[in-house]
Amino acid sequence: MEKTLEQISSLCKRRGFIFPSSEIYGGLNGFWDYGPMGAELKRNIRDAWWRFTVQWRDDVVGLDATIIMNPRIWEASGHVGGFADPMVDCKDCKKRHRADQLCEEQGLKLVRDGKAWKLPEGCKCTACGSANLTEPREFNLMFKTYVGPVEDDSSVAYLRPETAQAIFAQFLNIVPTSRKAVPFGVAQSGKSFRNEINPRNYTFRSREFEQMELEFFIRPDEAVELICGHVATLADNPDLSGDPQEDWGWEVWHRYWVEQRLKWYRLAGLPEQDLHLYWQKKDELAHYARACVDIEYAFPFGVQELEGIAARSDFDLTQHQKHSGKSMEVMDDRLRLACAAKSDEEKAEFKAKVVADWTARGKDAAAAEAFCDGLFQGRYVPHVIEPSAGTDRLALALLCNAYDEEKLVDSKGKEDVRTVLRFSPSLAPVKVAVLPLVKNKPELREKARELYRSLRRRWKCAWDETGAIGRRYRRQDEIGTPFCVTVDFDTLGEEHPELKDTVTLRFRDSMEQVRVPISELAAKIDASMEL
Ligand code: GAP
Repeated sequence: MEKTLEQISSLCKRRGFIFPSSEIYGGLNGFWDYGPMGAELKRNIRDAWWRFTVQWRDDVVGLDATIIMNPRIWEASGHVGGFADPMVDCKDCKKRHRADQLCEEQGLKLVRDGKAWKLPEGCKCTACGSANLTEPREFNLMFKTYVGPVEDDSSVAYLRPETAQAIFAQFLNIVPTSRKAVPFGVAQSGKSFRNEINPRNYTFRSREFEQMELEFFIRPDEAVELICGHVATLADNPDLSGDPQEDWGWEVWHRYWVEQRLKWYRLAGLPEQDLHLYWQKKDELAHYARACVDIEYAFPFGVQELEGIAARSDFDLTQHQKHSGKSMEVMDDRLRLACAAKSDEEKAEFKAKVVADWTARGKDAAAAEAFCDGLFQGRYVPHVIEPSAGTDRLALALLCNAYDEEKLVDSKGKEDVRTVLRFSPSLAPVKVAVLPLVKNKPELREKARELYRSLRRRWKCAWDETGAIGRRYRRQDEIGTPFCVTVDFDTLGEEHPELKDTVTLRFRDSMEQVRVPISELAAKIDASMEL
């Protein structure tokens, strides 16, 4: 079925998924709150991502860093100098636009003229049609604040625009305490803030949002070559579904993480045909990046980014090394031992090759030599692959994907429409609803309460005893509850002793109902959880 953002946002408001922030005061553009159902959904996404990325792996650890950090981090990362979007104002209607988006909407391309941006011929305000626009000017997206009682330049700090930088800034604490050796990763999820010029498409581009980011540190290809004698590339057709291998170069690691992340989105319930990969072109890549892939989803408003997966070389750690004056090198015992076994001639030959390679890429020969000398002692600054996802974007994608309106015809030929959210059970806000068939029979109600109390220790459950059972099922369908359990007279076994301690289990998607012993219920529900 065709779905619109209006249908989805209306259900989200009605059933407590998403509300405009501070609504009683007219809201605040670009800020959204998650209601009782939305809070559960987002928490499930975060927790499932953590299980998939950290808990189920041996080579990733976690971090939970502060939102406000020393502002020198953002100087080192390049955010103070360069985290800006070009902005234009319409001089007639006063509407403010992000210049690149304004051009894109009209099939035009914003032009870089030296350091400045220029609007192409024909670009107009999309709100009023006027061509009377200001020149584009850069607008830094970081929210500024002050730390302490004095508001001056020395107390300026920023709300983090990404969670990633804290991982680099804490690298030297994490390495010894985690007892992990490269290749290994550090994951963090949490709030990020960007003063977006033009928040839009519901929660898709917000000013306060959550990210789930992984920095996966790998050996530079030169270190892999010294250890393994060669560097595996994609041309070697490596098995990306198995365990990572020691001879993988950055290109294979990058592709491995693209596959891992696609697997995550499939497990989260997004269908293959709605997931797209966009490989950034050479001229779109940041100067330090070797490759970047966006995983995109077909939202009702177009195919848009869910996550970026970038191969960022050693740029970030090197920047923090320069700005903090602290060495970000690791000691790699495998490398040190491999180099100790090499002759001086072998090392000289290797060094000559690296110098030739680096200088061909416009890099400094002395830096290449120093890099090789470090490698021969087992030292280097790790490179990094960064899969960076948006929690709110995934929540929105899951809502869009789950939303369905199903036409039903009852036995008397009467037509009806059932609104249902078809979430994967692992991410559904409520897993099980326990419904006593009637509320005025104390033994039956107590039996249902007992079951509810036991199930809710493991899963978020709902208790609903009001209204006809059919209406109660529909209420659960609308919030995407995969299982409803009805406790009825047979559960008590008064008339049919053989049915004692059995319940009706009703499946959300098929609406099929089966009779199940209470003792088998938890295992049945558990078996449906993929994440
Ligand atoms: N550390 C890299 C980084 O932050 P990004 O592409 O700017 O990269 C990563 O952001 C992800 O964060 C995006 O793919 C998106 O899912 C989410 N994201 C970024 N800006 C957002 C915004 N304004 N609102 C909601 N999500 C956003």
